[in-house]
Amino acid sequence: MALQTNNPTTTQSWSKLQEHYQQMKNSSIQEMFAADNTRVDKLNIQWNDFLVDYSKNIITPETMTLLVDLANEMGLKAAINDYFEGALINKTEGRAVLHTALRAKDSAVVNVNGENVIPEIYEVRNKIKNFTNEIENGARKGYTGKVFTDVVNIGIGGSDLGPAMAVEALQYYKNNLSVHFVSNVDGDHVNEIIKKLNPETTLFVIVSKTFTTQETLTNSETIKKWFLESASQDDIAKHFVAVSTNIEKVSAFGIDPENVFPMWDWVGGRFSLWSAVGLTISLAVGYDNFDQLLAGANEMDEHFKSAEFDDNIPVILALLSIWYNNFFGAESEALIPYTQYLQKLAPYLQQGTMESNGKYVGRDGEKVNYQTGTIIWGEPGTNSQHAFFQLIHQGTKLIPCDFIGYVKPLYGDKEHHDKLMSNFFAQTEALMQGKSQQQVQAEFDKQGLEKSEAASLLPFKVFEGNKPTNTLLIDKLTPKSLGSLIALYEHKIFVQGIIWNIFSFDQWGVELGKQLANKVLAEINENKVATHDASTSFLLNYYLKNK
Ligand code: F6P
Repeated sequence: MALQTNNPTTTQSWSKLQEHYQQMKNSSIQEMFAADNTRVDKLNIQWNDFLVDYSKNIITPETMTLLVDLANEMGLKAAINDYFEGALINKTEGRAVLHTALRAKDSAVVNVNGENVIPEIYEVRNKIKNFTNEIENGARKGYTGKVFTDVVNIGIGGSDLGPAMAVEALQYYKNNLSVHFVSNVDGDHVNEIIKKLNPETTLFVIVSKTFTTQETLTNSETIKKWFLESASQDDIAKHFVAVSTNIEKVSAFGIDPENVFPMWDWVGGRFSLWSAVGLTISLAVGYDNFDQLLAGANEMDEHFKSAEFDDNIPVILALLSIWYNNFFGAESEALIPYTQYLQKLAPYLQQGTMESNGKYVGRDGEKVNYQTGTIIWGEPGTNSQHAFFQLIHQGTKLIPCDFIGYVKPLYGDKEHHDKLMSNFFAQTEALMQGKSQQQVQAEFDKQGLEKSEAASLLPFKVFEGNKPTNTLLIDKLTPKSLGSLIALYEHKIFVQGIIWNIFSFDQWGVELGKQLANKVLAEINENKVATHDASTSFLLNYYLKNK
């Protein structure tokens, strides 16, 4: 089934939301709490070991009803069905979108072009498992008979960000292999990694769905050249494996077909860590933990498929985001995990969100007349409190935030964790409550501050408050809860794409720069600048003269 196509602004619920926004835009969250002592009970969801409190938003239950109506009018239910059933919803590339199948149970049946893909998914999962075990237990050795000590993941975009984020997040569960990531075509990046490596004990995982990506191929060639300085061509089979759909190009690179982990065109790069793209994750934390990561994602898939929209975590978070983006005019959202382990979550979700929903053409091929794709950014708390929180508290922009925290720390250090979490709770409270003139004045009075000095200082110390936040409080950072968390945000992206009437699973917008870079590279190689705009020619000539 093709996805429904209509402009969301022409729906009845959109008009009602616009009217409702006029009533809500100056509402105070604090006052809404004061007026209704059951507010938090109505506006939270408890699911598995997740507690999602969305009561600190500029919403009433009526807002949520209208937003759910919008989701219904935009055909979300049918779209979810198409998504999980393998319909060709990535229309501009003629593909299904089935990262959810990668984490489905082995008893599931998911057909693509009439064929159940679950058996081949499990075949690849088995291959990942066996390979991981053989590296971990030393059955597979390097070309001089030594066990592997290091793994290098060579990939970019979805072939890097997901594994890098998950390996960082699951550091606590890591075995003793050292894992490195090479992504940028910047030669300094690869050389910094190379200098840490011993070719005899390093395994290289080249990850590229297409196996045509300039950055990944260049880095792989550089590493292969360095490797061959001490090893022979035959040794490549022992040290290089690849994850790709392009078996022909992988073989041309010299990788043994036995060492290829296949993936499928119905897995988008930015949603691919559940496939063999996650091989590095499995190598870093062991297959059982990788399996748990997938199991956690599968549980979130089931929740997303079956829960009513008003009790559905990804749907609620997506609708709130639309509320602020399309009615309040918020342009960005911050993700603030209160764990250092999730320091790469924001960059990871930047690709997921912005590559998916950064589109100005609707599913009808027309330019949209409303805002799409939010800008995602963030850093772990408490570091971010000492960096950009000033702007969230007292800046001129509305920045809705997701606070993600854990009830239990991994090393059991209660003193640190209580301090960390007291900041977590205090920040969402402060963002909502702010600090009134009366409160500031009372503080001045207590300090005995002179009247005129107090009057001149007062405006700077007042916080308006009323800044919306969602709080995601999860029991513990485990491979399973991480899987659920990532899947939650994947589905949020999906819901928003459906409501914005755009195609979330292509990424034509990154192609133009790639094409032009190839053209410029040819000119640099020939030391001759062809026709460009005046600025680009000026810069290129300067570069050629001074390099
Ligand atoms: O930047 C565009 C993109 O196609 C991403 O979607 C993808 O994750 C990345 O490039 C890497 O692509 P590949 O895995 O084919 O090397």
